[in-house]
Amino acid sequence: MAFSNHLFLLALLLLLPMASSAANLIYRQCDKNFTDNNALSTNIKTVLSDLQTRAPQTGFANSTATGASLDQVYGLAQCQGNAQQIDCSDCLATAITKISECTNQTMAYIWYNLCFVRISNENFFGSIKDGVGTIFNDFSDALNPIAFSAAVHNLTSQLLKNVLDSGAKMFGIATADVTGTEGISSISGVAQCTADLKLSTCYECLNWAVLQSKACETKKSCSILHSSCTISFR
Ligand SMILES: *[C@@H]1O[C@H](CO)[C@@H](O)[C@H](O)[C@H]1NC(C)=O
Ligand SMILES: *[C@@H]1O[C@H](CO)[C@@H](O)[C@H](O)[C@H]1NC(C)=O
Ligand SMILES: *[C@@H]1O[C@H](CO)[C@@H](O)[C@H](O)[C@H]1NC(C)=O
Ligand SMILES: *[C@@H]1O[C@H](CO)[C@@H](O)[C@H](O)[C@H]1NC(C)=O
Repeated sequence: MAFSNHLFLLALLLLLPMASSAANLIYRQCDKNFTDNNALSTNIKTVLSDLQTRAPQTGFANSTATGASLDQVYGLAQCQGNAQQIDCSDCLATAITKISECTNQTMAYIWYNLCFVRISNENFFGSIKDGVGTIFNDFSDALNPIAFSAAVHNLTSQLLKNVLDSGAKMFGIATADVTGTEGISSISGVAQCTADLKLSTCYECLNWAVLQSKACETKKSCSILHSSCTISFR
């Protein structure tokens, strides 16, 4: 039994690189309809195309299209800190196509496993105040919830530390062992803040995410998504 479990685990590990392809949509949210404003539509397109051009180089870009106050657009694109430039670029291309389907809406957010894009007609740079957040989990429970949630606690504290240590990248990965009746397995996690934040604001956002993780700490996988930071584990 233990042996077949290991085989299964191995099969899963081998599949992971495919399952975590750049264009893996997690969630999209579109808000604030507008009608008949061509300047605003044009500014949204301009900002999105600027983000696509500039963000892959460093993994992050913010962009602004100014104009009359109703037409202003602020946008941000963030790739996961360990994404290759080509994967970052591919992910953003997919995300931007998909976020462009939020027709005539001035606030939009889209999370992929390797990138995040946000636009708004209000300036949100550097702030988490007007952000949105949500949580996605695999509805199946871990076999050994007590050991698993202890490992999740271990994991999230390592992630916070690694993000703080990463400086301007504001990115961290970590793994933690889960010891259960079926042997030892491990969980791995990723944390990322958007690079417009100060490190202290990033920390505030991640603390929010860690609090949310209590709702899914016994689930086999979970993504806690905020418009300024994300934590996921599996
Ligand atoms: C916004 O527009 C979408 C489709 O264009 C529509 O489904 C939705 O009901 C609208 N929301 C509001 C609040 O008007
Ligand atoms: C979106 O806005 C454009 C231009 O402002 C307008 O022509 C079009 O009818 C709008 N579409 C919807 C679905 O509201
Ligand atoms: C990016 O954001 C900073 C504030 O965080 C702002 O000063 C700068 O003008 C923005 N750049 C663009 C191109 O929007
Ligand atoms: C956290 O996990 C690491 C790696 O699995 C392990 O070395 C460490 O002892 C754990 N710490 C706690 C407090 O459980």
